[in-house]
Amino acid sequence: MCGIVGYVGGQPALDVVVEGLARLEYRGYDSAGVALVAGGELAVEKRAGKLVNLRKALDEAPPPAASTGIGHTRWATHGAPNDTNAHPHADCSGTVAVIHNGIIENFAALRAELAENGHTLTSDTDTEAVAHLLEDEVKAGAGLADAMRRVCGRLEGAFTLVAVHTGEPDLVVGARRNSPLVVGRGDGENFLASDVAAFIAHTRDAIELGQDQVVELRADGVVVTDFSGAPADVTEYHVDWDVSAAEKGGFDYFMLKEIAEQPRAVADTLLGRIGADGRLTLDEMRISDAQLREIDKVVIVACGTAYHAGLIAKYAIEHWAGLPCEVELAHEFRYRDPILTRSTLVIAISQSGETMDTLMAVRHAREQRARVLGVCNVNGSTLPRECDGVLYTHAGPEIAVASTKAFLTQLVAVYLIALYLGQVRGTKFGDEVRDMIKVLSGMPDKLDQVLETMGPVRELARSLANEHCVLFLGRHVGFPVAMEGALKLKELAYMHAEGFAAGELKHGPIALIEQDLPVVVVVPPRARDVLHDKIVSNIQEIRARGARTIVIAEEGDTSVEPYADTLISVPAVPTLLQPLVATVPLQVFACELATAKGHDVDQPRNLAKSVTVE
Ligand code: G6P
Repeated sequence: MCGIVGYVGGQPALDVVVEGLARLEYRGYDSAGVALVAGGELAVEKRAGKLVNLRKALDEAPPPAASTGIGHTRWATHGAPNDTNAHPHADCSGTVAVIHNGIIENFAALRAELAENGHTLTSDTDTEAVAHLLEDEVKAGAGLADAMRRVCGRLEGAFTLVAVHTGEPDLVVGARRNSPLVVGRGDGENFLASDVAAFIAHTRDAIELGQDQVVELRADGVVVTDFSGAPADVTEYHVDWDVSAAEKGGFDYFMLKEIAEQPRAVADTLLGRIGADGRLTLDEMRISDAQLREIDKVVIVACGTAYHAGLIAKYAIEHWAGLPCEVELAHEFRYRDPILTRSTLVIAISQSGETMDTLMAVRHAREQRARVLGVCNVNGSTLPRECDGVLYTHAGPEIAVASTKAFLTQLVAVYLIALYLGQVRGTKFGDEVRDMIKVLSGMPDKLDQVLETMGPVRELARSLANEHCVLFLGRHVGFPVAMEGALKLKELAYMHAEGFAAGELKHGPIALIEQDLPVVVVVPPRARDVLHDKIVSNIQEIRARGARTIVIAEEGDTSVEPYADTLISVPAVPTLLQPLVATVPLQVFACELATAKGHDVDQPRNLAKSVTVE
């Protein structure tokens, strides 16, 4: 949610900043802007709409060469997405420029105070207040970094702020509270960004910034302090993927590339999980086996697609580890009174590790003394630092807004956690755990098989491009898969789509069935005969009422053939693991249907990849 870039060094700052914005555009694409400090002057250019509009404006009127610059790509919160509200925002004198991600909650009071003190605010944003507050501090004699520290002390809410000032042309200052910001360390140049993807083409050496820290970035060094100015401890790390991972690599869309990468992502997430003693090992678990043995309840918190991974995890945790498991949308969790104790294990699932609602749920859980385990894809993000332990998924950078490979790797991660809990609690024998890991290790091949047979799914999707509604039905783990299929279609094709538990059909949703309404049904493997037979009956019920049935079933399941207008066969796998193979056709379906409607599947309207505000 909003992408931020800062640069100081020997390269043309404009090029580095705009290139960084292009890699961060998935975070927001309502508007984009840059500010450069050149020859003691501030050059600001900003445009509503996608980055292409800003690029055009910059080509038409190139700003002066500069070695210091900042840039922003916006997901609007306060103020419409127009040129004026686009970042950067400057002060009255046009010497300070600032960009922001987050929400400054006391902005109305600050704006009123600034107006009273004679400042002229031109936008409707919360951010602009910061530019004028910095102006006052700088006019009173503070350097930009001190000014930033003082201003941060006056702000409420969540923010990443990055600013430049013409008085210190070789300096970029950043600050963060509850919003992402990382430093990239180069040779004679340094970078600031919301995400390492912005500078990965220049350096893979990064620094994690902690909460409430201010960073001073110069070409030859980086200084980090807390808001009071005391030196702060920072963690340096090396990014284990390179620039090619953040590029489309010949695909038209990142989403297509990320769907295709799923077999590899699943394999990477499984890598090295069996230790020398033949037991399952989890990296960065940081919660001891003895502590895990004391756990008497699991609560999973997550949002969006990650929530669907949590819903599937529930089945695996209850089945393999014999633990009661609740799953909760992170934004609902702390507004009721969840019963949490020292024996509760809270699992927070987040691809980005920056979803504000999930982070707030984690904080709430830790305040109640629950142990918290994160499942996260982004090294250096906030979630892993705030949890007692973390299990990293190894999906690599996911850039398309709609999650695909991150979802599949989250499933692998929660299966591993469920098996691990089973192992330490003794509800699964070692050989049972190893057998299941073996089956999981076969999943990349099965996923390859799924991807190779997607031609008919694409064709089907194109044929449905003019429909207005698609329903999805599933049972057991197929129910969250149905919800995920519906979410993908909403996100990408802007169509009405709902995922229902097939058993609920007769309690309401069946009233929606009308002639030729497409209904996708996820059929459990035949081994779960009771479930399987019930859903076959459900298919007949909806077909009798005119539905056009699109059935996803395991290969060789001939029992569904008579009732399927379209049959999509997926490899036979154990029931609990079926979401891995059954979700992929739904991703391909939504992606192709949205493309047929002419939508940009990487950047769906109104959405952003990581929702860093509540
Ligand atoms: C946004 C994205 C979704 C994602 C959700 C949770 O809504 O569009 O694709 O599933 O956030 O994100 P997280 O990074 O916490 O997994």
